[in-house]
Amino acid sequence: MRQPTTDRLDGKTALVTGANTGIGRTAAIELARRGATVLVCARSEDKARPVVDEITALGAKARPWALELGDLDAVATSARALVSEGIALDRLVLNAGLAGQQGLTKQGFELTFGVNHVGHFLFGELVMPRVRECKGRVVVVASGNHYQVDAIDFAAVRQRTRTVTGLHEYSVSKLANVMTAIDWSKLHADAGVKVVSLNPGRIASDIWRRIPNPFRWLFMQTMRTVEQGAYTTVHCAALADRELVSGAYYNDCREKPVNPAALDEAKRRALRDASLGWVGDYLR
Ligand SMILES: NC(=O)c1ccc[n+]([C@@H]2O[C@H](COP(=O)([O-])OP(=O)(O)OC[C@H]3O[C@@H](n4cnc5c(N)ncnc54)[C@H](OP(=O)(O)O)[C@@H]3O)[C@@H](O)[C@H]2O)c1
Repeated sequence: MRQPTTDRLDGKTALVTGANTGIGRTAAIELARRGATVLVCARSEDKARPVVDEITALGAKARPWALELGDLDAVATSARALVSEGIALDRLVLNAGLAGQQGLTKQGFELTFGVNHVGHFLFGELVMPRVRECKGRVVVVASGNHYQVDAIDFAAVRQRTRTVTGLHEYSVSKLANVMTAIDWSKLHADAGVKVVSLNPGRIASDIWRRIPNPFRWLFMQTMRTVEQGAYTTVHCAALADRELVSGAYYNDCREKPVNPAALDEAKRRALRDASLGWVGDYLR
């Protein structure tokens, strides 16, 4: 397994979604150790506070930030507060995610797609002006599961989760993450913004807790630790600008080819148009 870069982030501000636990928590602590001021995002400030306390106990800087991705009203409120406070966003790490659950988000999206893609898409669109002002960077935590599908069924993502394991829906949400990272890398290159997506590896975190056995047991046999799971995220957030390839997909701290479906401009355009339609009321 490759180690992440040792580059530092002194003077930078980094926001990490889903930072109360798992890969996001480990990444947030490591970015703070490297000198960044970290906005620790969780569904509520109370959930973020223990990680903020861990970071401040290390002599580093952090503050809690509330972001509930399953409710677009809450996403918009969180993003607008960030923009109006004028917070610099040198690094935006979109890490939160769920798998193996069934249901719908508040506005009626398939639960996994709604949280992993739609919530992050709206948040990213709304805070992007702050990233652009900083010539910042967006790091989208996707998954190797994005290779499992090659199309997004726009009707299915407006219905309750259909599969027992939820893994098909998870793969669809992760293909959407990779496609969105490529789109943003092209759309915001003019401002010097870099955007990458990545696979953290197969990691023994809480994310698999709702997958029924024996699927979960089988799944968890070959997994790495949460600390190892943060390596590629930290690498992509800290690597010197001249070395990071915008629009690329990283795996084990180096570039890896994406699913060709993510390179299909027509497929990406269809997803972006649909996503803008879904969140349009919040962007006006
Ligand atoms: N673990 C793996 O093997 C693996 C492999 C490939 C990709 N990934 C990706 O890595 C990322 C981190 O996953 P992890 O393994 O660290 O999982 P985890 O330990 O379950 O952490 C997931 C984080 O996302 C947050 N989250 C879930 N639903 C949310 C919502 N509606 N609003 C706001 N935050 C929400 C969780 O908050 P709560 O604690 O409040 O639920 C938690 O902070 C995910 O994007 C995942 O898809 C993981």
